[in-house]
Amino acid sequence: MDRDLSALKNTAKDVQNRVNAFMGRRLDAMDDVVPSFKDALRHALLLGGKRSRPLLVYVTGRALGAEDAALDYAAAGVECIHAYSLVHDDMPEMDNDALRRGQPTVHKKYGQATALLVGDTLQALAFEFLSSPASGIKPENALELCSVLARGAGYDGMCGGQAMDLYYEGKDITLDTLRELHRRKTGALIRAAVQLGYTVAGLEDPRLCAALDDYAADVGLAFQVWDDVLDVIGDTAVLGKNAGADIALHKSTYPALMGLEKAQELALAARDRAVARLGDIPFDLSLLEDFAFFTVSRDH
Ligand code: IPE
Ligand code: IPE
Ligand code: MG
Ligand code: MG
Ligand code: MG
Repeated sequence: MDRDLSALKNTAKDVQNRVNAFMGRRLDAMDDVVPSFKDALRHALLLGGKRSRPLLVYVTGRALGAEDAALDYAAAGVECIHAYSLVHDDMPEMDNDALRRGQPTVHKKYGQATALLVGDTLQALAFEFLSSPASGIKPENALELCSVLARGAGYDGMCGGQAMDLYYEGKDITLDTLRELHRRKTGALIRAAVQLGYTVAGLEDPRLCAALDDYAADVGLAFQVWDDVLDVIGDTAVLGKNAGADIALHKSTYPALMGLEKAQELALAARDRAVARLGDIPFDLSLLEDFAFFTVSRDH
């Protein structure tokens, strides 16, 4: 029988509303000197999206005793980096996509210069959130949040992975290199989300921290492999982005390297490793387990 994910889905709805309202208030507070730029920021940040990384921040942080009022800053921070990565990922110089979250991509609607600046602004906004004294987070923990997110976003994380993704278009790739590509491109921000939740909670428990990080690394791999799978079996209307885009660009993906079925099996195995890693932790992390199942059963 399929696992019951209704508790996770309810939490996800609550988290979406919460983080959207939080980020929306910050955008509302910006002055309107260039209205179309604000519209473009709103388009990139607030129109659609699953809010999976904020969900990981809240679920991890809440389980470890953190307050929502502090988690808001971390959740918004990681979502800003993710939203920026999607805006740039869709640009003609990268994946050249016209559809994202069921809407025209930012560069299609507002032009390429605006899309570049939207990404840059969201990257800065992420660190504005994490370093805000209004979060009430202790300064040494806020510094750690900034460090965690910077590493997840940068050379050893998302940007380095994006560079690998582009380099390996149309080229042969080994499984080890593809794993490293996915680890950076997507795994790093998913790991950062879990680490942000842990850091806001303020516990000092290196074994717990390592177990959560191992969980997140496998969930991150499963998440991107499943994203690759959805490019093959997904439906554009449900995905909110064009199916078949990886195939058209000769992207190095798991289904391209090993075939669809093996890629699906590998994603499920990563899910099972992730869940097993939570086994010994003396906190109720059932929603993180649910998230691992969600990752490889989602249709978008
Ligand atoms: C899409 O991420 C790009 C990847 C890193 C796989 P999501 O599947 O989380 O996209 P949204 O935020 O829900 O639109
Ligand atoms: C995106 O990977 C990873 C990012 C860092 C944005 P993809 O290029 O596969 O993401 P989609 O499929 O366009 O959402
Ligand atoms: Mg891409
Ligand atoms: Mg893409
Ligand atoms: Mg993809």
